[in-house]
Amino acid sequence: MIVYFNSKFLHKDDVKVSPFDRAYLFADGAYEALRSYNQKLFRLNSHLKRLKHSLTELSILFSGFNDIKTIAEELVKKNNINSDYSFYIQISRGISFPRTHHFASDITPNVFAFVKPIVDNRKQREEGVPIILEKDLRWLRCDIKSISILPAVMVSQKAFSSGVFEAVLYRDNFITEGSHTSFFAVKNNTIYTTPLSNYILDGITRKVVLELCKENQIEYKEENIKVDELKTYDEFFITGTTTEVTPVIKIDDWFVNNGKPGVVTRNIQKLFNIYTENFNE
Ligand SMILES: Cc1ncc(COP(=O)(O)O)c(C=O)c1O
Repeated sequence: MIVYFNSKFLHKDDVKVSPFDRAYLFADGAYEALRSYNQKLFRLNSHLKRLKHSLTELSILFSGFNDIKTIAEELVKKNNINSDYSFYIQISRGISFPRTHHFASDITPNVFAFVKPIVDNRKQREEGVPIILEKDLRWLRCDIKSISILPAVMVSQKAFSSGVFEAVLYRDNFITEGSHTSFFAVKNNTIYTTPLSNYILDGITRKVVLELCKENQIEYKEENIKVDELKTYDEFFITGTTTEVTPVIKIDDWFVNNGKPGVVTRNIQKLFNIYTENFNE
């Protein structure tokens, strides 16, 4: 596998990173995960905008935004990928020696990226997935796509070892989002999703779904979803770059809608599929 590291395309085993890179010492960095449709990077500008937000909030100085598309395209060529792909890019603050929490203002970031073919998720989108609810143990700046995501790793692992697809998180009595997805609920044909704040990531797929709702006169509300009112909703789904629009058919022990994806979810999936099938920017 050929990867990108600081302006070079190298075999993955040939990348050398100092253990004094602050990503290693402090998980000090930000990342983005994109994917292609029709081999074009989906919503690249939204991802760049979010990356800029993350880096600005973390005071990481990075100026290579205009190179990101070319890096992805080169990686695709060098790895002979002929299908749609996912693209991961991580910018760490760089090396600081000796180890101190504070950092110099002129530190040079380390940039790492790789691509891999998209894994087929049709079965889970068709059949829907079970999820578990978990307490949100993350920090108060979940709007930053930081690489410091151990709480998400821990609940993801719990979901994985319980044989379910995702852990959806709550703070007090409110659902925030999934460990790596945005969360939606449906009641009486209206779609609900957690409002944007420091408690959740500004999901790009979430944004696309809300745009599709607007264009197609589907009612939606960015409103908190209460844990103790979950059973008053008719349907649920989760969204994400690689998860796309995936129905939730079981929450903990509760089979939602008798364990079948709902009608409104199916309609959103259909609109999303038409949009991505025709994506050509
Ligand atoms: C915490 C969290 N929420 C939501 C999402 C979904 O965001 P997007 O649709 O931009 O992939 C992700 C994606 O990785 C995530 O990590």
